Amino acid sequence: MTQEEAQNQIESLRREIERHDRLYYIEAKPEISDRDYDRLYRKLQDLEAGFPELRSPHSPTARVGGAPLADFTQVQHRVKMLSLDNTYSEAELRQFFRRLQRSLNQDRVRVLIEPKIDGVAVSVTYRDSVFTSGATRGDGSTGDDITANLRTIHSLPLRLPPGSPPDLELRGEVYMPTEAFARMNAERAQAGEPAFANPRNATAGALKLLDSSAVARRPLEIVFHGYGWIEGDPPFTSITGFQQLLHRAGLRHSERIWHAEDADSLLVAISELDACRHEFHYLTDGAVVKVDQLDLQDRLGSTSKAPRWAIAYKFQAEQAETRVLSIEVQVGRTGALTPVANLVPVLLAGTTVSRATLHNAEEVRRKDVRSGDVVIIEKAGEIIPAVIMVRFEKRTGDEEPFVMPDRCPVCDTLVVRDPAQVAIRCPNPQCPEVVRRKLSHFASRGAMDIDGLGQVLVDQLVVQKLASRFSDLYALTEEQLSALPRMGPKSAANVIAGLEHSRRQPPWRLLFGLGILHVGSTASQTLLAHFQHLDAVAAASLEELIEVEDIGEVMASSIHAWFGDPSNREEIERLRQAGLTFRLSEAESAQTSAILDGETWVITGTLSRPREFFAALIRAHGGKVTGNVSSNTTWVLVGENPGSKAQKAASLPNPVPTASESDLLKRLGESSD
Ligand code: IVH
Repeated sequence: MTQEEAQNQIESLRREIERHDRLYYIEAKPEISDRDYDRLYRKLQDLEAGFPELRSPHSPTARVGGAPLADFTQVQHRVKMLSLDNTYSEAELRQFFRRLQRSLNQDRVRVLIEPKIDGVAVSVTYRDSVFTSGATRGDGSTGDDITANLRTIHSLPLRLPPGSPPDLELRGEVYMPTEAFARMNAERAQAGEPAFANPRNATAGALKLLDSSAVARRPLEIVFHGYGWIEGDPPFTSITGFQQLLHRAGLRHSERIWHAEDADSLLVAISELDACRHEFHYLTDGAVVKVDQLDLQDRLGSTSKAPRWAIAYKFQAEQAETRVLSIEVQVGRTGALTPVANLVPVLLAGTTVSRATLHNAEEVRRKDVRSGDVVIIEKAGEIIPAVIMVRFEKRTGDEEPFVMPDRCPVCDTLVVRDPAQVAIRCPNPQCPEVVRRKLSHFASRGAMDIDGLGQVLVDQLVVQKLASRFSDLYALTEEQLSALPRMGPKSAANVIAGLEHSRRQPPWRLLFGLGILHVGSTASQTLLAHFQHLDAVAAASLEELIEVEDIGEVMASSIHAWFGDPSNREEIERLRQAGLTFRLSEAESAQTSAILDGETWVITGTLSRPREFFAALIRAHGGKVTGNVSSNTTWVLVGENPGSKAQKAASLPNPVPTASESDLLKRLGESSD
């Protein structure tokens, strides 16, 4: 194929994929199956791999993120990113409308009403119809250059269709859809990592990551609501016209807008918005009211902080008032101490709330929450109940200030401050609370899945001093169990059978069950797929752990430290004696051939399927997969947008050869469909 032919094919594939991206991510009405989409995508990847000079940052294959940055560059906004005046009161909203009428000297003023998206403000620039850069708001004048992070967001088109203004800077909000947020938090909790309080914090956290390939794994989306500048005369005369332009350009905009020309109908529109906002894709914390016509906006102008032609009306978050009965300190599975408020039960957004998190000692001090206080609670991001503020005027003087104990409330051991995080931990591995939470995590469905061994039984075992370590569970006898309160011989036999069954569980379940800080079930599976044997994970050096695809430094240190502790090593020996499975079974390691025997592969760039798929394939054929190129590397498997690993492979004294996805599949005799 000539370069020109390739160029034409690449271009038409890109257009086709862009169209399907738009149908899928923007319009939510896909026309082809995921499989057919993958086929197109892979075809494009292969062509681009064959003609590297035709690669481009606006190709759909460029969304996977690139090499990590050392820091963000600061960029100056060409037009200042203003903020909005806001109000919670209808009276002030009427006042705002009267001001418009007076300043414009007209009775009817057309305003547009749209949802206020509870996300993170960004600026997005297109040049010659291509996405070229993006930045955070920062202080309004300068922000962080987050171009690489924004490129990973699928609802952000990398090119604008013909007919759109080619040079413009847009303003929008990046957010995390509510369900995706809930899923991510559940995974973090599973890995013993702190949950994000709400989707906005999770989004801000993701956009601040310096490693854009990590951002690519976070479920972010974008919606546009304004512009900073447009080269030439704007092809519209109102915000309504601007929204139509967004629509034609395939850029996501407000799901619904309303119009009003007087204060009464403005208030009606806002209450309609309030009534349907829970159906939106994003959290909406209010309504933004904007004068629709641009010439009128110009006449009204802006202050140094905010435009005079717009206002945000914020909805009261769903709040309730109640009293703090006590502040209790909870000890988690990792020993972390969390203050929790016990409340007089109260109805909030449809559920009865009797506890609310106070996050950490710092937070309690900042808000000065005391036992006995009347407080306002809120569903933060409408999800987790939290104490927002104290009604200080209702204090009687009998309230008791909270002091974070310097000893564990359960076992009385002196607590330690975790230097990396705000967390305060009980360091005693024998702490009964840590033990009961660890044991029930070990037995839980996601880990060793031991039938019949629930929290109630775990508590009894701990109280009766029948179990404090995982291995103690395997020494339990039917007699011991049936002697426990509420345990008949039948349930005892059931537990013994459950334990027996768990001896054959795959070793990743065991690794996950150990409850090592930061190590969730996905990471456990990755580690076992890589090392094949729990002993190999235990023996791995810090460098070897970091080398594994998707295992970061924090997790690697945590694993290394855990297995470095002699008492943990002893426990591993006891588990071995108890007959637990440490090695992947034949079926799991599924060695299908020895074609890649003795070869060490590194994978880089985006492939048509997750990297773990190709890693498993290489291992199944006898190869090893590591995360970094070195003189030991035999092959580099390159996908689209390959980054620094491919460069390093080429620059070594003995350059490492590269293979494309289809090269690999051909060698293994697998078809590329
Ligand atoms: S228009 C001159 N429309 O809220 C600023 N902003 O509190 C014009 N926001 O900085 C902004 N949804 O980041 C506009 N539908 C919407 C919005 C919206 C959320 C953000 C925006 C702004 C902040 C002000």
